[in-house]
Amino acid sequence: MSDRTSAAFTPVNACTAVVGLQWGDEGKGKLVDLLAPEHDAVVRYNGGANAGHSVVFDGKRHALHLVPSGVFHPGALAVIGNGVVVDPAKLIEELDLLIEKGVDVSGLRVSDRAHVVMPYHMAEDGAREQVLSGKVDGAGVGQSIGTTKRGIGPAYADKVQRAAAVRIGDLLRPDRLREKLELACAFHNHTLSGLGDDAPRFDPGEMHMRCLDHGERLREHIVDTLYLLHDMLAGGKRLLFEGANGTLLDVDHGTYPFVTSSNSCVLGIGPGSGVTERRLGRVIGIAKAYCTRVGAGPFPTELHDQTGERIRKRGNEFGTTTGRPRRTGWLDLVALRYGAMLNGCTEMMVTLLDVLAGFEELHICTAYRIGGETTDRFPPDAADLERAEPVYESVPGFADEIVKARKRADLPGAAIAYIERIESFTGVPVRAVGVGPDREQTIQM
Ligand code: GDP
Ligand code: IMO
Ligand code: MG
Repeated sequence: MSDRTSAAFTPVNACTAVVGLQWGDEGKGKLVDLLAPEHDAVVRYNGGANAGHSVVFDGKRHALHLVPSGVFHPGALAVIGNGVVVDPAKLIEELDLLIEKGVDVSGLRVSDRAHVVMPYHMAEDGAREQVLSGKVDGAGVGQSIGTTKRGIGPAYADKVQRAAAVRIGDLLRPDRLREKLELACAFHNHTLSGLGDDAPRFDPGEMHMRCLDHGERLREHIVDTLYLLHDMLAGGKRLLFEGANGTLLDVDHGTYPFVTSSNSCVLGIGPGSGVTERRLGRVIGIAKAYCTRVGAGPFPTELHDQTGERIRKRGNEFGTTTGRPRRTGWLDLVALRYGAMLNGCTEMMVTLLDVLAGFEELHICTAYRIGGETTDRFPPDAADLERAEPVYESVPGFADEIVKARKRADLPGAAIAYIERIESFTGVPVRAVGVGPDREQTIQM
């Protein structure tokens, strides 16, 4: 039994959250890796293998999808919380790759309450996207979300539907698992047959064997993470929460319906980990110095020209998970301030500033014009945002490359002014700036 009255009890706000303020890929993996040594556990609370978090050090790039980005620091546990949807096959593949690289993965803990992404979820994700694109019966032309096809939406839908959902803990309970899979396959085969004749069908016996295999392989990592995290807090330990996806992809607060299926902003931490947000001291919002988006949905500052292409090339803007080219555009301060507000950011990190070097002039969106009205508020409806025309402020660019800058004084005046404009508009201090993908390429402001 742990002693919850211990004098070592973690001060109420000693935990940290890292959360993306845009449409994902802001550089969360890099920041989490940098902060992990100051914490005792890195905790994922949302999303699944739709995430692709990169960590770069010693000239090597590591892409993580389900394993928390603190895994390269064996002093901190890597915890997959109950709010994550876990594809066990993908997790095992990722673990094998890490082990092959010599990474110690013994600190991985997976919540027994986390939901399992099954092959029928992936099939359904793909089949729904086909229908939405109009390729099946012409009903939904141009409506697809551009999901990662990792089964995220259908797995979360099953969780909320309850009866046929499989949780990680079920992988260790053969009888119960079998009952659930009978039901799940019946439901999903039915749904899939409605989504198209060529959609696959699933056999409960086959799924059962597969799940039991995965359960055996993951057994040593599966725990009740709720008690684990609370025992850690009772023992004076500090937790670092790693958001996946981004605030503008949050199912409640993002550009609905062009979003993912979980609460990816800080508000998802409570339900997704069982730890109250009262524990948070630092909420670090992370944003690119410009904007990107993968998949469909409104993007007011999107650039369809040479400038957009240049940003894509310089920023190497191709998805970490799907390899898709990312859409690119100027920094949107209306959206950024909205994200900072929603998350209650205590500070920000601005990444990929190096990508903007060489532009004579930079544009920053400070308002939208929607149907003749000008507003500096982020509209709740994707259709309104789709019609929004950005109102730009032009600011001087900086000619010199900054990839070798290591302190504030190394940055050109125009780069500092750009950061200060972000601070003055959002009201949140920028404490760190990224000037390259490597751990080392970070400036503490
Ligand atoms: P995440 O999903 O938020 O973890 O971000 P991703 O890893 O998907 O995408 C961010 C990309 O930018 C990765 O390729 C990173 O290695 C890279 N990156 C992160 N910070 C910087 C930076 O400051 N400058 C440059 N040039 N690349 C960066
Ligand atoms: P990280 O954690 C960028 C996007 C997809 C799609 C939408 C829904 O690396 O920042 P889903 O598969 O979740 O149902 O797709 O959300 N999306 C992301 N885009 N980075 C991510 O994660 C994303 N996770 C989901 O492209 O538009
Ligand atoms: Mg990513």
